[in-house]
Amino acid sequence: MVKKRILSGMRPTGPLHLGNLHGALANWKKMQNEYECFFFIADWHALTSDYDATGPIRSYIIEIFKDWLSVGLSPEKCTLFIQSHVKEHAELFLLLSMITPLPWLERNPTYKEQIAELKNKDLSTFGFLGYPVLQAADIIMYKANGVPVGIDQAPHVELTREIARRFNYFYGNVFPIPQTILTETPKILGIDRRKMSKSYNNAIFLSEPPEQIKKKVAQMITDPHRARRTDRGNPDVCNVFSFHQIYSDSDTVKQIDRECRKAQIGCVQCKQQMARNLIKALEPIREKRSYYDAHPDVVRAIIEKGTRRARSVARQTMEEVRAAVKI
Ligand code: TRP
Ligand code: SF4
Repeated sequence: MVKKRILSGMRPTGPLHLGNLHGALANWKKMQNEYECFFFIADWHALTSDYDATGPIRSYIIEIFKDWLSVGLSPEKCTLFIQSHVKEHAELFLLLSMITPLPWLERNPTYKEQIAELKNKDLSTFGFLGYPVLQAADIIMYKANGVPVGIDQAPHVELTREIARRFNYFYGNVFPIPQTILTETPKILGIDRRKMSKSYNNAIFLSEPPEQIKKKVAQMITDPHRARRTDRGNPDVCNVFSFHQIYSDSDTVKQIDRECRKAQIGCVQCKQQMARNLIKALEPIREKRSYYDAHPDVVRAIIEKGTRRARSVARQTMEEVRAAVKI
C-alpha cells in the first residue's frame, strides 16, 4: 500500500522548547512511522516578520535541525530540508500569487491578529500579506495529502485548499487538495503560566543545561493562593503539578497531590523533585544532541541529503506546473 504523504514546517525563530516537544514534535515523530513525511524549516517565512533582524536565522536553522534529530526524527524515514534551499518554492509562490485574490488574504484571521498584536513592527508589506501563498506553495509542491498543524495554522491550510482548487480549475487537475490534520496543543505552560513561547521569555528549551533547568523551575509560579508554606495548596491550578503529571511516575503524582492539599510538602521541595525528573526525561535528548554538537559534518550531510530529495520532487512538480500553465 502506498503511504499517504504529509508535510509540515517550522519557522526558525529560535531553539525548540518543551511546548514544541509535546506538541508538533511528538506528533511528527509518531507520524514518521505511518506516513511519507516531509518536514522543513521555513526560513523565507521567518523573513515575513523578521526582515530587519536576519542575523541569527542561519544558526537557528542548525539548532532546530539538531533538536529534530535529538528527539528522534529520523532522516531515513523523513525528508528533512530547508525551504530556501529549494528555489522551486519561489517559482510556485509567484505563479500562485497570480491567481490568489487579495480579499482571501486580507480576511485571513492570522493576518489581522498579527497586525493588531505586533504594533511596534511594520507588517504592511507585500511579503507578510502573501505569507499564506508561500505556505500554499510549500504544501502543494509535494502534493501533500495532509498537513499536521496547530489550530493557529488551520486558516492557512484552509487557504491552501482554496488556492489549490483554483489552480486546478484554471489549469487542470495537478494538485491533490490537502487535509488539515489538527495537532493537539499541549497543556504545558511557560514558567510564568502563560503559553510557553520563546517570545514570552518563559520557555524551557530542549537544549537547556540541567543547571539552567533547575533555575527556571525554581522560578515557576505555583498555586497563586498558596502564599505561605503552611497554606494548603491546590495542585489542580498549579503549573508545577502539570509538569509532574508529565515527568513523574504516577505514585509520585498521587503523593504530591495528597501532600500539597494538606500542606505537608513545600513548593521548593516539590519543584526540586520535578526538576530532577524533567532533567532525567530529557537525558536521552541531551545525549543525542551532544553527539550532533560534536559532529557538525554529520548534521550538514543530513541537511544536504534531505534537500536533494526534496528538490527532486519539487523539480518534477514544477515541470508539471509549467506544462499546465503553458509557460
Ligand atoms: N506558517 C507555519 C508556522 O508558522 C510554518 C509553515 C510554513 C508551514 N510553511 C508551512 C507549516 C507549510 C505547515 C505547512 O508554524
Ligand atoms: Fe504546586 Fe507542588 Fe507547591 Fe503544590 S506543593 S502548589 S503542586 S509546587
